[in-house]
Amino acid sequence: MANRLPIDDSMAPDGACEWRRSPGGLVSALHPLLRHTPATWVGWAGGTGPAPRLPDIDGVRMHSVSLTAEDLRDHYEGFANGTLWPLYHDAVEQPVYHRRWWEAYQRVNQRFAEAAAAVAEPGGLVWVQDYHLQLVPGLLRALRPDLRIGFFLHVPFPPPELFMQLPRRAELLRGMLGADLIGFQRAQAAHNFAQLVVKVLDLPATDRRIGVDDRVVRVGAYPVSIDTAEMAALAGRPDVTARARRLRHDLGDPQQVILSVDRMDYTKGIEQRLKAYSELLASGDVKVRDTVLVQVAVPSRERVGQYQILRDRVEREVGRINGEFGRVGEPAIHYLNQPFDRAELAALYRVADVMAVTPLRDGMNLVAKEYVAARVDDTGALLLSEFAGAAAELEQAYLVNPHDLEGLKQSLLTALRAGPEDVGDRMRAMRAHLHRHDIRAWARSYLSALDQAGSLVTRLGSTG
Ligand code: ADP
Ligand code: G6P
Repeated sequence: MANRLPIDDSMAPDGACEWRRSPGGLVSALHPLLRHTPATWVGWAGGTGPAPRLPDIDGVRMHSVSLTAEDLRDHYEGFANGTLWPLYHDAVEQPVYHRRWWEAYQRVNQRFAEAAAAVAEPGGLVWVQDYHLQLVPGLLRALRPDLRIGFFLHVPFPPPELFMQLPRRAELLRGMLGADLIGFQRAQAAHNFAQLVVKVLDLPATDRRIGVDDRVVRVGAYPVSIDTAEMAALAGRPDVTARARRLRHDLGDPQQVILSVDRMDYTKGIEQRLKAYSELLASGDVKVRDTVLVQVAVPSRERVGQYQILRDRVEREVGRINGEFGRVGEPAIHYLNQPFDRAELAALYRVADVMAVTPLRDGMNLVAKEYVAARVDDTGALLLSEFAGAAAELEQAYLVNPHDLEGLKQSLLTALRAGPEDVGDRMRAMRAHLHRHDIRAWARSYLSALDQAGSLVTRLGSTG
């Protein structure tokens, strides 16, 4: 179960409602995994009002949970994306605390827990995903002690000095501890969690196991991934290859294409990247005729004030840069604020000589992994933020600190000027890593650990 179902409803040109995969890392990871698996996805279909009855999608049963307009405002836009999201991402924007938001978070978590309790088979397994639903493991365990319960956090888990700001920190930790296994992206996050459990709840805890009542809760790092083979197959398809060629032509057949693909989110470092690019244009290190930047920024959380402000600022800056450096028929930046289907994204990845993925903080960043998987001819330079979870695995990327403007400019130039041999060696190594560590490997390692955790009848006292 996850806050979001893997679908986005959109109007077809004839007015009929059609479904497409919703953008975002969680859905990109889990959708290919569950496809054709006998499972039910419990989540929210977007919008407000009664939960729609949905058809199975790719063999997965969809069980939708409703949100009222108030829940949407106070749970999804409020506590989840106004409090937890900024707090968990280094507070790069100021987290906001409202008591009403917390009440909505509890209420919606209770509704999700009840929905899962109603559909899970006796002795079944429920895998709860992400920061919107941190109370669900505890609530669900109270309703259905027969279930095996996993929890996985897709976003970073912050260090104690940040988490301690949360007015309801103890309840959130206790909620997560209802799970048999709590998974994080990075070992550092598991460490932060264990420290907090000791400090706030005074429970016996290591980075791997925590004693709660008469149970042992396992904790671990399981870096999420993508369906590498699927992306590689898509990127290698003749129609996608032809589309990539066409895109390059439409971009004016430049010597080099730089691509960025993000949700329009302040954690993604879009403004810093634009600033670096603009300074490189101003200094003449990058020339519009030779190089183009394609910035895809898909709309996200559009009713949240911080996201509206970001979009305005990004669009103003793109306009300024194009006004100052562009020429007739040759904009400096191609800016696309739209969702694309997977084939179009794959074609964009194929066209990009340099992929700039420079978030200020990111749990993983699957765009970076998708780019690597799509580079089937082992070309292409990945410029990757040290603050993305993916940097721990894609060590051969051109790593950069996006807070350091000069460093960002230099690294972008390094990636643009790198020789084919260096680029090829790095890309080959990263592709080999992703073929071994794909989404199925992630699920296998998490689920086998959950299996062991659930069958543990030992108590902390006897397991050490
Ligand atoms: P986050 O989890 O913060 O959204 P990730 O990089 O992990 O960031 O995942 C983003 C996902 O959304 C990727 O799978 C990417 O392909 C998808 N995505 C990004 N932009 C678009 C877009 N314009 N249209 C459709 N999907 C997109
Ligand atoms: C990140 C979160 C997901 C979320 C996604 C898209 O990947 O970890 O839980 O689904 O962003 O955000 P949205 O608010 O549209 O669901």
